[in-house]
Amino acid sequence: MVIGHHVQPLHSEPLGQQQRAEVIAGEACAAGDQNPLCSSRPSLPGAGSYRMKHPPAPFALAQFALVQGRGFPGYRRQGSQNRITPMRIVMIGTGYVGLVSGVCFADFGHDVICVDKDTAKIDRLNAGQVPIYEPELDVVMTRNVEAGRLAFTTDLAAAVQGADAVFIAVGTPTRRGDGHADLTFVMAAATELARVAQNGVIVVTKSTVPVGTNRQVRDTIAAANPDLEFDVASNPEFLREGAAVQDFMRPDRVIVGVESDRAAKVLRNIYRPLYLRDFPIVVTDLESAEMIKYAANAFLATKITFINEVAALCEKVGADIKQVSWGMGLDGRIGNKFLHAGPGYGGSCFPKDTSALARIGQDHASPMYIVETVIEVNERIKRRMVDKLLNMCGDSFAGRTVGVLGVTFKPDTDDMRDAPSLTIVPALIGGGARVRVCDPQGRREGVALLHGVSWHDDAYDAAAGADLLVILTEWNEFRALDLKRLAGLMAKPCLADLRNIYSAADVRDAGFQTYTAIGRPGF
Ligand SMILES: NC(=O)c1ccc[n+]([C@@H]2O[C@H](COP(=O)([O-])OP(=O)(O)OC[C@H]3O[C@@H](n4cnc5c(N)ncnc54)[C@H](O)[C@@H]3O)[C@@H](O)[C@H]2O)c1
Repeated sequence: MVIGHHVQPLHSEPLGQQQRAEVIAGEACAAGDQNPLCSSRPSLPGAGSYRMKHPPAPFALAQFALVQGRGFPGYRRQGSQNRITPMRIVMIGTGYVGLVSGVCFADFGHDVICVDKDTAKIDRLNAGQVPIYEPELDVVMTRNVEAGRLAFTTDLAAAVQGADAVFIAVGTPTRRGDGHADLTFVMAAATELARVAQNGVIVVTKSTVPVGTNRQVRDTIAAANPDLEFDVASNPEFLREGAAVQDFMRPDRVIVGVESDRAAKVLRNIYRPLYLRDFPIVVTDLESAEMIKYAANAFLATKITFINEVAALCEKVGADIKQVSWGMGLDGRIGNKFLHAGPGYGGSCFPKDTSALARIGQDHASPMYIVETVIEVNERIKRRMVDKLLNMCGDSFAGRTVGVLGVTFKPDTDDMRDAPSLTIVPALIGGGARVRVCDPQGRREGVALLHGVSWHDDAYDAAAGADLLVILTEWNEFRALDLKRLAGLMAKPCLADLRNIYSAADVRDAGFQTYTAIGRPGF
């Protein structure tokens, strides 16, 4: 419930067994909000690879960065009620979510240590290299390392000394065989943490986890270290790869699931720079927070799948999906986001999260029929893409040369997890085609996943001598290609535009013989 920017508790009972939900935005910190655990953190043993300087007043550094116009954009500094209390944060897992979250928390002015088991990754980070491709991340990371607010280590025991909050941001892939979320990494991290954590710590699960997992995390820690005093919290993450830093800094909302006021207070403090800027912080019980994440992702996957299915019908009835999406999206109840027809959703989240939600429904005898259908339809959509390409190649890929532009699951990321290319490219290769691939960032991961393809540095090189060119990922550099030049380079100028970025008229004018798009007339 949001009324202005004030807290509206739905229940006045203390947190714990009571369900509660409140929305906070712009709420001032109570006086004396400073967490007693926040005072000083002992220096780490074996600090060779550990570069945190532990400045006495990280807040002062944050202020400096902001004064210089390099810190968190728009943060209001005037007035004591607008001060943030710098917290000591540890991030377990330094992948797409853990690294971005750690870097951005440091940019808020907190004192952050990112921990990972992967020594090579930590070595790269300590050498100032970002192991993933994510716009802006390198710049924000560097300025926070230089300011002494951000460090990387493999030493969890040393990192957690004096921590106010430890976030678990490890992977939760689909469990082999049954579609459930695999919680092995989460529970292993919880057990490792239990052995070394100090009293008073808040253990926050940022990984996407099924309903009930935070209680399981609590029980796992309590069993491993019965003397430890701690609280758990759920803080699912909604950032999008390719825009992760922007999304973290400007979220639609922050979801915080808690069972104690203490945990809520620490998390409010951590996210304080955001609600000073009027981004809503929604505080719920643990189960609701866990469910919000799955329900949100399943809803978005449903929206994409719906428009993809409408696109298939458009092709049969002669409608244009671009016009249909536009006309639909202008309806405020529908909105224009996630209404772009394409080759089916992929990525590190939608496939595994829809699968996990479907399993949760089955386990609780409350089947998620819509989600189950979305999963099935999405698979059919990916196969439909292969059929489209096959049709363009005269029903056989054998002996054809196919150029493929883009293999990552979306632009501006190097992430290949569950990308449609992993279905489409093997089908081309399996059918006997020679495949020439170009992707601005996908090669490093792609070489291990796409066997038998050749890699090319630019689109024109990938198209040279090809019988068919397929646009699979809408990187900006593929949006304004010289179509005439492309057509001239190809053995047979045929274009499959699976992201609808060109118009049939332009493609025809450029000299292409055949053009296929999604849900729109081709020739
Ligand atoms: N990638 C996204 O866009 C996104 C968005 C929102 C939520 N999420 C969720 O966030 C979670 C993390 O996703 P990701 O994409 O960042 O995963 P990832 O695979 O990129 O990174 C996970 C990291 O955790 C490390 N790790 C595993 N066990 C560890 C342990 N015990 N101690 C220290 N490090 C350990 C791994 O080495 C790896 O570097 C998942 O639950 C995912 O569903 C992801």
